[in-house]
Amino acid sequence: MRIRIIGAGRVGAPLGAWFMSKGHHVKFVETNTALLEQVLTGTLPWEEPYLNETLQDEVEEFHITDDEPCDWTFISVGTPVIDGKPLLRNVENIVRELEPETNVVLRSTVAPGTCDTLAKKFNRVIWHAPERLLLGRGLDELDELPQIIGATEPASLINTNEFMRAFGRCFPKFVPGTAVEAECAKVANNIMRYIEFAAGTELSELFEVVGANNRVVRGMMTNGYKRGRISFPSFVGSYCLDKDWQMLSHVTKTTPKLASAAADYNLNLPKRLLNSIPLNGQRVVVLGLTYKPGLDDCRESPSLTIISELLKYGNVDIRVHDPLVDVEAHLMEYFGGPMEGLSTITGDLQAEVRKADVVVLATAHDDYCHTLEFKDEATIIDPSGNLASNSNFIWEA
Ligand SMILES: NC(=O)c1ccc[n+]([C@@H]2O[C@H](COP(=O)([O-])OP(=O)(O)OC[C@H]3O[C@@H](n4cnc5c(N)ncnc54)[C@H](O)[C@@H]3O)[C@@H](O)[C@H]2O)c1
Repeated sequence: MRIRIIGAGRVGAPLGAWFMSKGHHVKFVETNTALLEQVLTGTLPWEEPYLNETLQDEVEEFHITDDEPCDWTFISVGTPVIDGKPLLRNVENIVRELEPETNVVLRSTVAPGTCDTLAKKFNRVIWHAPERLLLGRGLDELDELPQIIGATEPASLINTNEFMRAFGRCFPKFVPGTAVEAECAKVANNIMRYIEFAAGTELSELFEVVGANNRVVRGMMTNGYKRGRISFPSFVGSYCLDKDWQMLSHVTKTTPKLASAAADYNLNLPKRLLNSIPLNGQRVVVLGLTYKPGLDDCRESPSLTIISELLKYGNVDIRVHDPLVDVEAHLMEYFGGPMEGLSTITGDLQAEVRKADVVVLATAHDDYCHTLEFKDEATIIDPSGNLASNSNFIWEA
């Protein structure tokens, strides 16, 4: 088949590479020409196992550049939410321009009802097959994850059959329904995770308030007991988690109580922990800038919230380290230039950590865990408990 992928980012690039590896012809359409060049040469700057190798192996034979119609078009562009409102103009403009012969699949996360609106506006069927991959496991998960598939009314079941027939040899399993059901399922997956993260962290904090070690309690809750689930406490961030509940909130014109409370809790955790210790005039090392260990993605990273909070003090010496990204470049981009009191650690990390009054483990990259030595009586903020086993959220070295 001829498959067009519009938006060759973290979702579109693995999807296109994977379709090529299954023998389909793929046309990447990407407005960022530098990124497109990296996709076509298998030199993407981010870490995704086998992605660059797969692109290098497949592009020559399976990438197409002609202007002939494509059988299927997957749209995988960003779908941001600004001030609580999903921005859809980009997706709309893309659908408007597509040839009538192509089947349109929206892969991006969208607010429930979006596909029906687009279908009505452009008088065509829209499929929704939302991406649910975990960054850093993109290609593996395309082989493993069941694909939610919804189509716009009328006759959505017949339409989903058409999608399943076309891609039956690629995906392991389909879970069909209407487009709006698929949209709900995708955002709900993320909303549940967001609430579970908040609940796990909040309960762990409360265990400590009553004098229990949160790690021991969590072990007691879960060890050999199937119904004893609890998330690990941690700072929470990511490109998707805070926007998906806002999409549902926008279209239902309600504020979902649990999701908004989870957002409030997750987003304010850095501020609350920092406010609980003396910081004026202190030297603080922030470990990790990415939103998740082992990944090089800084979008919506809690580390940026931590640094922003520390900057508000005006007299804190903030030093930031991350083994996976160009910290200086990211900070310059995020803050729009150099900030007084904020610097990057590029040299001896251990020496910097030993001089710090406060160390914040923002991202539990392997490089940090169980190897660092601290100054006597330094304050360590470590909700995920990776710098010392059996510790509480905040402890003294
Ligand atoms: N990153 C994830 O882990 C993840 C997981 C599941 C779902 N999603 C969803 O998938 C969608 C894409 O996310 P992403 O992380 O790949 O974003 P991304 O920013 O990495 O990639 C989107 C790409 O689309 C390109 N683009 C934008 N408008 C375009 C246009 N008109 N024509 C061609 N290219 C265009 C951008 O230049 C960008 O490279 C979002 O809706 C996101 O919420 C992401």
